[in-house]
Amino acid sequence: MISVKNLYKEFKQDGKVLHVLNGINAEFKKGEKVAIIGPSGSGKSTFLRCINALETPTSGEILFKGKKVDVNSSDIDDIRKNIGMVFQHFNLFPHMTILENITFAPITLKVYSEKEAKENGMALLEKVGLKDKWNSYPSRLSGGQKQRVAIIRALMMKPEIMLFDEPTSALDPEVVKDVIALMVEIAKSGMTMIMVTHEMNFVRHSATRVLFMDEGKIISDTTPEELFNNCENVRISKFLSKLA
Ligand SMILES: Nc1ncnc2c1ncn2[C@@H]1O[C@H](COP(=O)(O)OP(=O)(O)O)[C@@H](O)[C@H]1O
Ligand SMILES: [Mg+2]
Repeated sequence: MISVKNLYKEFKQDGKVLHVLNGINAEFKKGEKVAIIGPSGSGKSTFLRCINALETPTSGEILFKGKKVDVNSSDIDDIRKNIGMVFQHFNLFPHMTILENITFAPITLKVYSEKEAKENGMALLEKVGLKDKWNSYPSRLSGGQKQRVAIIRALMMKPEIMLFDEPTSALDPEVVKDVIALMVEIAKSGMTMIMVTHEMNFVRHSATRVLFMDEGKIISDTTPEELFNNCENVRISKFLSKLA
């Protein structure tokens, strides 16, 4: 579904060049749930942001179902509609109610009629126990509640793939499980998922593949079993032991 070829990304800062992605090659197939782990600063967020055209690569290319992901292409709106993204800091619209947050894009982009969007939105809110919050503003919700709303907002677009960038790392430990439970359900529904996360129990049980990124490269691409049971790479074992 997504094919990444020789991806490089540099940022220029204070006259210096930062080499953030250094030749990434990867394939993501329909239905896969791929976890991306690795140290802070290794380029995980930048990689996800390139997949969604929030960043433009310096060189290399990304194909979504054979079409080039490129902000200047005429396919970009369609591509973005089909690639949902969930951020670490939720990024809800502060001036919109919860129901407006989750129905605005699907109504504007005609994924649903207004009536359908509201019905489906309310049904999803009910499913995650947030129906009574439909008319509240994001500032009234806890972090865990905001993140579940952000996930629903992405789901409302009926994307073909969902990207998650450390969706639980800004949350208090006691609400992480609610967000993880929702992600487990999405995984079970058959959704294709690429998720940067260090929730290792979730990775162990729900990921079909794990990529390890270091210094802008994918240095390991394995199943969770292999990663946890026979990891011979010292760099990776050291990282994993720190998480445990
Ligand atoms: N817009 C930007 N401008 C300059 N440097 C950036 C920008 N975005 C990310 N970086 C740098 O790129 C590196 C990788 O960042 P990031 O992709 O966020 O890593 P990770 O998500 O693995 O922690 C970091 O050194 C970060 O400071
Ligand atoms: Mg990051």
